[in-house]
Amino acid sequence: MPLTPQFLTQSPALSASSAVAVDELAQGLLMPAANIAPKYFYNLLGSKLFEAITLLDDYYPTRTEASIFEAHNAHIARAVADSGIKTACLIDLGAGNCAKAAALMPFLSPRQYVPVDISVDFLREAADKLQARFTALDIVGVAMDFSSALTLPDAVQSHDRVFFYPGSSLGNFSPPDARRFLQQIADTQQGKASGLLLGIDLVKDAAVLQAAYDDAAGVTAAFNKNVLLHVNALLDSDFDLRQWRHVALFNLQDSRIEMHLEAITNTTVRWVGHERSFAAGERIHTENSYKYTLDGMSTLLKQAGFSHVQHWTDAQGWFGVFWASK
Ligand code: AVI
Repeated sequence: MPLTPQFLTQSPALSASSAVAVDELAQGLLMPAANIAPKYFYNLLGSKLFEAITLLDDYYPTRTEASIFEAHNAHIARAVADSGIKTACLIDLGAGNCAKAAALMPFLSPRQYVPVDISVDFLREAADKLQARFTALDIVGVAMDFSSALTLPDAVQSHDRVFFYPGSSLGNFSPPDARRFLQQIADTQQGKASGLLLGIDLVKDAAVLQAAYDDAAGVTAAFNKNVLLHVNALLDSDFDLRQWRHVALFNLQDSRIEMHLEAITNTTVRWVGHERSFAAGERIHTENSYKYTLDGMSTLLKQAGFSHVQHWTDAQGWFGVFWASK
């Protein structure tokens, strides 16, 4: 008999009734330079659009990261074992469709798998599919917005842990926030051995970066604009997607891709008790995606409290996979 995945909600879900989401969104939209936090991309449609992005030729990070794991799986598993960690529990931060962890299962052989994601329905579907493939694996899905705090439920096994944070999602934090987040992982020891397997996108030619975030098929544009549909559902606002266009640019000074939504004409958005007018050309900042060097990321991991850091990269040096332990 295959096991059945358990599901736990660890922090308020981003539902229409979530006062936290309503306050956070309203505050961002009423700022002089309006913003929407990137976690709001991931309603069910947003998660599916992101999955489609990862299949695009223009979006190199997913396939490049997969090629590094494919080439170095055995070395990575040895590095984990050499750190004295038995991977009893694999904690997948931002698990999405769980495909990356599934590819690692034969090498790390965890007893328990804990996929964590903000997009509950998407996670449920993915965890059910994974359970059908790995029938004896104890799966504990956790619906959680871990961007604010990483608190694991009691059902997470009290054994050695490998935190898995692939896909360059760490790049969506500012570097100081990234360091604080890494520090939380480094400190989540609670007497158990643990380490972090991290995938991060690296600095490269601006044209390659630009194409990855403004792809020819327009999938990233649809992903960016879909955030307004999610905001309409959460805030009961009246964003009209036809009034907005997708903008992606590389900010060289800050080493980050920025995504914005730009008003095509003067427009006013209304929701209960509030309104915000945007002049044509005015933007809402929706995402930063920071790009690191191998040295820069090693330094950040060490500053966060990891004393042993190893990395692997692809032939072009486009993406980095790191193993960090204390
Ligand atoms: C999830 N995150 C790492 C993606 C990135 O590349 O920053 C999100 C994304 N935004 C546009 N395309 C992909």
